[in-house]
Amino acid sequence: MSAEHRPPAASIPAVVHGGLPLEELDRRGIDPRAVLDFSVSVHPLGPSPRVLAAAAAADLGRYPDSEVGALRRALAARHRMSADQVWAGNGASELLWLAAHLWLRPGDRALVLGPTYGEYRRAAALAGATTIEPRAEESRDFLPDLDALERLIRRERPRVAFLCNPNNPTGVYLDGAAVERLAAALGEGLLVLDEAFAGFVDDAWDATALLPRGNVLVVRSMTKDHGIPGLRLGYALGTTDRIAALRAAAPPWSVNSAAQAAGLAALEDDAHLEAGRRATREIAGYLRGALAPIGLALRPSAANFWLVRVPDATRLRAALLDEGILVRDCTSFGLPHHVRIGSRPLPDCERLVTALRHVVLCLRPDDC
Ligand SMILES: Cc1ncc(COP(=O)(O)O)c(C=O)c1O
Repeated sequence: MSAEHRPPAASIPAVVHGGLPLEELDRRGIDPRAVLDFSVSVHPLGPSPRVLAAAAAADLGRYPDSEVGALRRALAARHRMSADQVWAGNGASELLWLAAHLWLRPGDRALVLGPTYGEYRRAAALAGATTIEPRAEESRDFLPDLDALERLIRRERPRVAFLCNPNNPTGVYLDGAAVERLAAALGEGLLVLDEAFAGFVDDAWDATALLPRGNVLVVRSMTKDHGIPGLRLGYALGTTDRIAALRAAAPPWSVNSAAQAAGLAALEDDAHLEAGRRATREIAGYLRGALAPIGLALRPSAANFWLVRVPDATRLRAALLDEGILVRDCTSFGLPHHVRIGSRPLPDCERLVTALRHVVLCLRPDDC
């Protein structure tokens, strides 16, 4: 591999993310503590008390276990596999980046199924690869055309394909047969199956069934499942060879002691994740009913966030922020007429609906 063919990092556009835009809030004189943040999509009830207590009790005076042994063993038991098929990272992000770094070379093609999470493209670009991005269309409810996709994969032979399932931001969840079909089409190519939001899916299928194929790496986000974005924790499941490669390429101590302790406690607290799933279903029902009379339709989603079609996402986001509410403007996903709303507790959703009622009227010409 020749490092000089990798592009300068500064030449690759930054990815837009949800989360509080602190500089913008400062400029506009808005107190970040007063903002209800619907722009990120994590556990709607926040971290469980057990997870918080475990993180707080971690010994910060020592280096963390760089092998993340106890947590990997617990994850392996959970997924009924051996610990050398599990690697942990500083959020799912670190594992996605490591995968691009390890399995993409300058001149390779990477496939990304859009519209989707922007970091796949950036990680591939940093590795010197070119991204092919077929897009699922709104007119097809954002469902990918699997026949066309399969033909494209066989023609372009991408070395790595990133598939987000359920997909951010559309919430579309492909079944096991569809994902297996794509993995088969890839041949020697690697399918990085990003299941960052799978924890919120009702009756999710078990993606580890695809691991014996050898060309699938499953990535999960405990950050999202357990509402700990500030702590950061993710893991990858794969063949022992793939996991050994991740381990060899990983920076030392990237999973800190508090995150390791939190992860172990989270695995003992399945009820909290189940409560998050239940709350998300209730929230979807409430939002769907409350938004319809304002003329806004919540798209179906298997995950803990929903797309809503609006006249102008950038203007709507700005107007809602004036009301102390942040939603994700999906323009950066190529969807300038959609915002994404993450799952939050019902009282927060009631405030969102009140603000939307006011703001949507104001954004319609002649109405305000
Ligand atoms: C699809 C997807 N994968 C991965 C991540 C990052 O997960 P983590 O916070 O665990 O790094 C995100 C964050 O928004 C995401 O949307």
